[in-house]
Amino acid sequence: MKGRAKGSVLLALLLTACGGRQEASPEATAGDAARAVVDTLLFPFTLTEEQLEGKAIFETVCWTCHGPSGHGDGPAVLAGSVPRPPDFTTGDYAKLTRAQLEARFSAALAARRPHPTMQYVSSILQPEVFSRALAYVAALSYPPEVPGSALAGAQLYRERCAGCHGLTGDGRGFVARQLTVAPADFTQDTLIRQRNFIALFTRIKQGGGSVHGSAMPAWGLSLLDNDIWNLVAFIVTFQPGTVAEPPAPQDGE
Ligand code: HEC
Ligand code: HEC
Repeated sequence: MKGRAKGSVLLALLLTACGGRQEASPEATAGDAARAVVDTLLFPFTLTEEQLEGKAIFETVCWTCHGPSGHGDGPAVLAGSVPRPPDFTTGDYAKLTRAQLEARFSAALAARRPHPTMQYVSSILQPEVFSRALAYVAALSYPPEVPGSALAGAQLYRERCAGCHGLTGDGRGFVARQLTVAPADFTQDTLIRQRNFIALFTRIKQGGGSVHGSAMPAWGLSLLDNDIWNLVAFIVTFQPGTVAEPPAPQDGE
């Protein structure tokens, strides 16, 4: 009984995820278009149609356990109802393409190895729906060198950092000219050039107040470590060549 109840909730969520896209697109507003432009400007690669569908599925069905940016920190995990899934942004998982994720998952499924929850999740999803969600997972986990998601970081950057550091990362956001100490220019930043990801993480977490007397906030007071890693994953893309090239769209196939 418990399993069935859980099933119908998941199924309802899924139907919303699948039906939502078709209905939403004709009603897209000018605001949506503007946001899409900003996302394209900010993010080092554009999501394919299939990855966008995968995003809708992931953010409806998968995020409860896997977390919105794939760290394995979804609400069901934090509440202790489900064992912690792997962090898609680190280690092996971050390097896998959609096809590799799929092969690995099918092999585990055939051997009845995945957690019973995943057996259940895959049994209620059409294989191509699951596969689209995996296409999004592959994009979400970029770049493989940093234990964070540049895609998730881009959204947060736009909301929390661009005002000072600028949409293009050049340190010339509209607030910058009011500050006595200039915001870092990520296109020239030494820590990024040196690939010193841990130092970047620490600078974001601790802020600049006590070190430089600057306006750089101590983000550890308001953001989770996983969010800060997402930001590191994103800002390093302001210097091309620091991390692997973004996946070409066909890698999602
Ligand atoms: C109710 C919680 C839950 C939901 C919802 C969920 N997962 Fe999982 N997932 C897990 C857990 C727990 C594991 C770890 C499996 C294990 O311990 O064997 C996992 C593992 C995985 C793995 C790794 C499997 C392997 O062996 O390599 C993939 C890929 C995956 N999930 C994808 C997804 C996708 C895509 C969705 C959404 C369509 C999803 N999951 C929804 C809990 C969940
Ligand atoms: C109110 C303005 C302001 C905001 C908002 C802001 N910063 Fe900063 N940031 C600064 C200033 C000023 C500096 C340079 C002085 C310093 O390092 O303390 C700086 C420095 C940094 C550095 C250090 C670079 C280095 O090489 O030492 C990093 C990394 C950084 N910011 C990341 C971020 C991120 C990520 C966000 C968003 C979560 C953010 N900042 C939001 C003002 C800001």
